[in-house]
Amino acid sequence: MKKAVPDPQDMPNWKSDFPIQQKKATHVSRREFAKFLALFSGTLALANGVIVIRSLLFPAKPLEGEHYVCQETDVAVGQMFQFKIEGAETVPYILVHLEESEWRAFEQKCTHLTCAVRYREDLKKIECPCHHGFFSADTGEVLQGPPPRPLPQLQVVIKDGKVYVKEKNA
Ligand code: FES
Repeated sequence: MKKAVPDPQDMPNWKSDFPIQQKKATHVSRREFAKFLALFSGTLALANGVIVIRSLLFPAKPLEGEHYVCQETDVAVGQMFQFKIEGAETVPYILVHLEESEWRAFEQKCTHLTCAVRYREDLKKIECPCHHGFFSADTGEVLQGPPPRPLPQLQVVIKDGKVYVKEKNA
């Protein structure tokens, strides 16, 4: 059966007023795509620049004194405990119970793009799930992935069954 060709007289007026073809309307030229990419990368670069300048102008103040975190019995061996320090600018932190009397504490912000890191007991490493960055659970050093710096570490002090943290080497 032959399909009837519509008579141009029967075409609605808007079609002649707005003669845009769907194919053309959805087409993105190489130039437009390159412009979008340039704008997008420029915005990312600018955001990174702002973060760097801000951290240079307003460096984090060192932690003063010891801060109570929890009871020793609150965190089993192989577990991680998230905590915050009242008044500290960089929050939160993680406390990792590595072995019976081995504790570590780090900032939880990944040094790449500040995602929250977590301790992976199965790997004995600290993982950033955003871009598969890995840090040493012992020292905070970067083991793999894009993070540019180690995780800032606090010193853990155990007193009378209580866990405290303080600035490293303070
Ligand atoms: S934000 Fe952690 S690896 Fe990218």
